[in-house]
Amino acid sequence: MQTAPTRAAASQSSAQSPIQSPAQSLAAPSLVHTLLARRRRLAQQIDFPVLLWSGTAKSRNFAANIYPYRASSHFLYFAGLPLENAAIRIEGDQLMLFMDDATADDVLWHGPGPSRNDIAEQIGATAAHPLKALADLGQGVATFGEKDETVQMLEQAMLQRSIVIPRHGVRSNQTLEKAIVQLRMIHDEGSLAAIRQAIAVTVSAHKAGMAATPAVLAKQGIEAQVRAAMEGVIMAHDMTCAYGSIVTIAGEVLHNNHYHQPLSAGDLLLADVGAETTGGWAADITRTWPVTGKFSSTQRDLYDVVLAAHDFCIEKAQPGAEYADIHQIACQIMAAGLVELGILKGDPEALVADDAHALFFPHGVGHLMGLDVHDMEDLGDLAGYAEGRGRSDRFGLAFLRLNRVLAPGMVITIEPGFYQVPAILNDPKNRDRYAQSVNWERLEQFADVRGIRIEDDILITEQGNEVLSRDLPTAASAIEDLMMNLKQTAAL
Ligand code: GLY
Ligand code: MN
Ligand code: MN
Repeated sequence: MQTAPTRAAASQSSAQSPIQSPAQSLAAPSLVHTLLARRRRLAQQIDFPVLLWSGTAKSRNFAANIYPYRASSHFLYFAGLPLENAAIRIEGDQLMLFMDDATADDVLWHGPGPSRNDIAEQIGATAAHPLKALADLGQGVATFGEKDETVQMLEQAMLQRSIVIPRHGVRSNQTLEKAIVQLRMIHDEGSLAAIRQAIAVTVSAHKAGMAATPAVLAKQGIEAQVRAAMEGVIMAHDMTCAYGSIVTIAGEVLHNNHYHQPLSAGDLLLADVGAETTGGWAADITRTWPVTGKFSSTQRDLYDVVLAAHDFCIEKAQPGAEYADIHQIACQIMAAGLVELGILKGDPEALVADDAHALFFPHGVGHLMGLDVHDMEDLGDLAGYAEGRGRSDRFGLAFLRLNRVLAPGMVITIEPGFYQVPAILNDPKNRDRYAQSVNWERLEQFADVRGIRIEDDILITEQGNEVLSRDLPTAASAIEDLMMNLKQTAAL
């Protein structure tokens, strides 16, 4: 068995980066205290021991050439460190760590790292053992149905089983999954401190993208160069990207992962880029800016419609609010704005009832965010949808990822958008169904808008909400001013 190199854990204890993160001044509660409080909250919901695996690095063509490793989010929540090839056993407030110390070969190739006992101390483990001890100490535990094949093999070999055990007449993984969802959905001080760090770095990355864009345009450069400026900031803070960055002039491709297109005057650039801390906590921010630094009048008109939806949804993101109602508000404002611009025809409410707005806004207005950018979607809709609720098959609602009552401590995104997706707009069925609802000639006048999305990260509080990403402006004129200021600063 390959020994856990714990490279990432080693970086946690290494000297501080010389690059000052805007977030480094934020005080985070102690890791040991945070993890103990999480175990205690879990113990209020379940009465059986749990084993969580970190996962293993996947190799490409030979063992030492690995894909970027990412520990399981459920493991990270209770272990705090991105360990490789490790497991933790939680029972009540007790934490047992299982991992092997580095071999001489590991040290030769990866350098020295903290020992198992060092790591146990960092995370407040009450005991620490090599992996083989799981053969005894891993019996009778509840586990998730693991997707990671190496972990499945380990479970089979060490626990003599690969399936979860039933308890209380319910499959214990369901009970466990629901308990973990309840915990992870309501953020504690430790997770909020980390999310704030990821957001602060992401705000800096977006500003770097805005600063780089006019120069990339002047050199007839491509999207990849703006992406590099943005991700460079994330890398310089020793963070990674929480998801594949979207940096594109083809904003209508919702999850575009190509970066080869040249920028041309008149383009809008849509950048959906988010940092992830070493502990795995995400940010998820989108801004759309004109590559010249100035919106055209048509771009600005549509931008202001999306911004109105964004602002009003944030206002309504309060404890006790139904997230599905907030999505509905976004649809209404989009429809009303498009009627005002002459793109849609008729009564906004009736247009929304007929899903006409979804021609231009085909996705949900946002999702939960935390250790995963779409938090806990590895569990399907267990986290996103309240018990008894399921996805709608209506056009525009099928992609709604969150449908529950908002509560203090949740972190959500609000991310309305306007897109001209050829596959939707040129679909003969849509042309027919919405023949009377869309002024197609008028729409042609907005050809310089391919995609606009404005996305912020919102913490629901007892009193209302806090826009965690508020340091990055959203108003069209504020973006123009920021780009101008960034350009002037660069010229100094
Ligand atoms: N970054 C992916 C999303 O906004 O959902
Ligand atoms: Mn998002
Ligand atoms: Mn996003």
